[in-house]
Amino acid sequence: MKRVLVTGSNGLLGQKLSDLYTKIEGVDFLATGAGANRHPMGEKLAYRSMDIRNKDEIDALFADFRPDTVIHAAAMTNVDQCELEKDACTALNVTAVNYLIDACNQYDGHLIHLSTDFIFDGKGGPYKEEDRPNPISFYGESKLVGEKMIQEKAKKWAIVRTVLVYGIVKDMSRSNIVLWAKNALESGKEINVVTDQYRSPTLAEDLALGCRLIEQQEAQGIFHISGKDFMSVYELVQRVAAYWNLPINHMHPSTSEGIKQAAKRPPVTGFILDKAIRELGYAPRSFEEGLAVINAEL
Ligand SMILES: NC(=O)c1ccc[n+]([C@@H]2O[C@H](COP(=O)([O-])OP(=O)(O)OC[C@H]3O[C@@H](n4cnc5c(N)ncnc54)[C@H](OP(=O)(O)O)[C@@H]3O)[C@@H](O)[C@H]2O)c1
Repeated sequence: MKRVLVTGSNGLLGQKLSDLYTKIEGVDFLATGAGANRHPMGEKLAYRSMDIRNKDEIDALFADFRPDTVIHAAAMTNVDQCELEKDACTALNVTAVNYLIDACNQYDGHLIHLSTDFIFDGKGGPYKEEDRPNPISFYGESKLVGEKMIQEKAKKWAIVRTVLVYGIVKDMSRSNIVLWAKNALESGKEINVVTDQYRSPTLAEDLALGCRLIEQQEAQGIFHISGKDFMSVYELVQRVAAYWNLPINHMHPSTSEGIKQAAKRPPVTGFILDKAIRELGYAPRSFEEGLAVINAEL
């Protein structure tokens, strides 16, 4: 049986990967995360605690489980926190990646590493895989350094870049754009929404399926995996409102300049998905189909 290990299994992608892999026959799946397991499956999920900042913990677990594939979903993902806590960001998004590369190389494992549209400066999106990175935040910079280490040192690797992931899972460490928009619109509070940031938002289930295709095909190289619909964040919130029939009279258009945040956001990202569709058979859902998935889970 092929052994697949995921890091960060309590996170948004990590939980969706656990949902997906526990339904797949012929794969020995192990979920790992920092601290206790928070997946609703509880003890039915094969889970081991693994803090990826601890090389000894990684080495001991790899010696025991010897994964054929590692899907590396753990990271420091809060962009403003990365800007403010640079050492902590580097420990997680750079140093820990180095530990995982060494561990995968030792057992000839395929390392599938998650990265981000924030490695780009947002002046020329939507982007394809070979476009030139130029991060404008510390988070983006840290993820790009991780990518470069993988390309230089890992024996078998894939880099999966993704964009603005949304979905619903239990005990989330942080919210996401769709749940934030839905809650804010329902509460009727005044909200400012940016009109000058463009994205191709990604349903977490689609991202998990993209990772599965790469694992199954043992595909190597860089892949852009996101949603297929491209829109401004303002339009995104309008479409959330339309889907759930919520009023938008408390929503105000704003520029990025008008919203004070510690880290800069790239204005226009979003991805061109041709490579993933052609080479992997990736088939992303539309934004409204993604909202329907969330609606069914609520
Ligand atoms: N979400 C997005 O919009 C987005 C966009 C582009 C790229 N990405 C990338 O996609 C990947 C998955 O993102 P996500 O949305 O699933 O992130 P997430 O929900 O924030 O999950 C990240 C997970 O990493 C775990 N983690 C933190 N420190 C750890 C440690 N020392 N050891 C082990 N695990 C640790 C967190 O644990 P706790 O839950 O206990 O905090 C969390 O469960 C990341 O590489 C991210 O950079 C995400």
